[in-house]
Amino acid sequence: MTLSNNDINNLTQTAIEAARQGGAILQDFAQKGFSIESKGESINLVTEADLQSEKAIIQSIRKAFPEHQILSEEQGLQDIPQHPIKWIIDPLDGTVNFAHGFPMYNVSIGVEYEGTCIIGAIYDPTRNELFLGQQGRGATLNGKPIHVSAAPKLAEALLVTGFAYDIHTATDNNLKEFGAFTVRAGGMRRTGTAAIDLCYIACGRLDGFWELQLKPWDTAAGKVIVEEAGGKITNYAGEPYSIYGETLLATNSHIHQEMVEILQNTRTSYSPMENIHNIPGAYP
Ligand code: IPD
Ligand code: CA
Ligand code: CA
Repeated sequence: MTLSNNDINNLTQTAIEAARQGGAILQDFAQKGFSIESKGESINLVTEADLQSEKAIIQSIRKAFPEHQILSEEQGLQDIPQHPIKWIIDPLDGTVNFAHGFPMYNVSIGVEYEGTCIIGAIYDPTRNELFLGQQGRGATLNGKPIHVSAAPKLAEALLVTGFAYDIHTATDNNLKEFGAFTVRAGGMRRTGTAAIDLCYIACGRLDGFWELQLKPWDTAAGKVIVEEAGGKITNYAGEPYSIYGETLLATNSHIHQEMVEILQNTRTSYSPMENIHNIPGAYP
């Protein structure tokens, strides 16, 4: 199966419409209120908005492309026979923000073709910002081309990271890396949404982003957007990034090697005995 320009246009249009539709549902719940439950770890939440946004997105995609595979965060992999095209959906990235009324969240929809992410649409309904990446066609924000920043070195770079939901118990918890980068970078941020972190790398608002344990729905769309905006995305060792892998490093490319080295050094010298759980009284 090969994809024509027309196929790419149709996939893109469906991705954009579904992302906007999901975003409208999130805003509706943000206005009227919603129920919240926790899944697994008590800090890992799911709201009514996640579920309704997901339902509407899947319905739209199925209507347009009933035979395509669909992987989404809350429903998992749909029971559809194998197909070279897989939609990868996060119906609400930034659930903890959303649950607190902190206005930083989005809908993220990626399209994978024969194992490669070829289209990414991320819609932030709080700012009405639609980020789009199409393999070989570039990346845009609300239709205007975007590009990564020119920050030449870490000391001038604004970095971002996130922490996985097992942070209360995990030993490999990103705190040592956080410290190592904070004392070397121009600045440090934590947005609470990996998809936005990737979009902001792509449009130059941020210069470097690293995180452990992200899931395919967190990064499928953002990967295309970063790459098409001229950024670099790898694992912590600087090797090609897989959305199914353990570690992610995305940068404007100029500071990539510096960040790889710090990650390697920090993690080689990593001792679980030094983590926060050994500070008396830090946790019950
Ligand atoms: C989370 C966000 C957060 C990241 C977590 C993700 P969710 O996604 O992207 O920034 O640190 O690892 O799980 O749960 O809000 O969809
Ligand atoms: Ca997510
Ligand atoms: Ca989510």
